[in-house]
Formats: sequence, C-alpha cells, structure tokens
Amino acid sequence: MHKILVAYFSLTGNTKKIAEAIYESLPQPKILRPIAEASGLDEFDLIFIGFPVHSHSVPVKVEKFLKAIPQGQKVALFSTHGALTGSRLSREAIEHAVVTASQAKIISTFSCRGKVSPQALEVLSQLPEHEAWADMAASASTHPNEHDLEDARAFARWVMALSRSER
Ligand SMILES: Cc1cc2nc3c(=O)[nH]c(=O)nc-3n(C[C@H](O)[C@H](O)[C@H](O)COP(=O)(O)O)c2cc1C
Repeated sequence: MHKILVAYFSLTGNTKKIAEAIYESLPQPKILRPIAEASGLDEFDLIFIGFPVHSHSVPVKVEKFLKAIPQGQKVALFSTHGALTGSRLSREAIEHAVVTASQAKIISTFSCRGKVSPQALEVLSQLPEHEAWADMAASASTHPNEHDLEDARAFARWVMALSRSER
C-alpha cells in the first residue's frame, strides 16, 4: 500500500491551500498535517512537504524537518512565495530545500505565488534586503488562485505517476 503524508508549514494560509489541493488529488491512504504535528516519517512511502519562502529561503522549522527526513525517503517539495513565478528568488528557495534534504529522493518540486499579508508587506518593504521582491509582491495579491490550485492538483498526480514508476 502506498501511504502518503502531505506536511506543510503555513503562517497565513496560502501554503495550506496548496497542501489541501495536493491532498485531495491523492489516493488513499493519506494524511494531511502541519509539520509540527507530523511524525513517524519512515512509515510513509511518499511525503509532500510545503513551505512559504521566508527571507529568500526556507523557514527554520521547515529546514529542521527536511534534515530529519529518513535516508532514501521519496519526497516532493512545494512552496509559495510573493515574488514572481520563476524569478531567481523563488527558484533559490526551493533549490535550497532540495539541497537541505539531499539524503532524500526528491521526486519533483512545485511552487506558486501567494499573497503577502499587509502586515508582513509593511514591515518587509522597509528592509533593504527585501526590496527586490517586496515590489513584486503587490501583484501576488490574488494568489493562490484557482489556476494555482489546479496546477497543484496536476503536480500531485504527476508525482504519483513518477513515484509509482520508481518502485
Ligand atoms: C516573514 C516573511 C518573509 C517573507 N519573505 C519572502 C521572500 O523572501 N520572498 C518571497 O517571494 N516572499 C516572501 N514572503 C511572502 C510569503 O512567502 C508568501 O506570502 C507566502 O505565500 C506565505 O505563505 P503562507 O500563507 O503559507 O504563510 C515572506 C512572508 C513573510 C511573512
């Protein structure tokens, strides 16, 4: 049986929405959990791990979780970010996650934009190191939208197909 965990970290709900879209496209048996409540990782055949990009990178709690993934575990990574899709900032964070979990078998990755909360935007736009993406962040205000959720569902199906063919 192919037991699947979808684990996510989400401060303002964007990554959670993507996690739910992925989860709903997967076959049973499956579990959806915030990473803080996810345990027994070696019981799963496949683990999806999602996070928001924070300060160009992976949130510390997620980094710890990625390092704790068992050797050879099949993993699919996903992220949400305020920066433009495909921009260097968004790519670097997911690449950092791939390297951090290099003991795992990374099946595939997915990322999409997520609106930046007004509070975060106000604080972050005053910090020079965030200027690069804070400017772009305004146009993320409608994300994740229905297209993003549909892409996330397609990603889930694609990862399942890849993961099955690797068994
Ligand atoms: C503290 C903080 C730092 C952030 N840093 C970045 C960043 O460096 N680059 C970026 O593209 N988005 C950044 N964002 C925006 C989030 O990645 C984006 O809004 C994400 O969709 C939030 O996901 P969540 O709702 O699951 O928490 C930041 C947001 C916060 C709150």
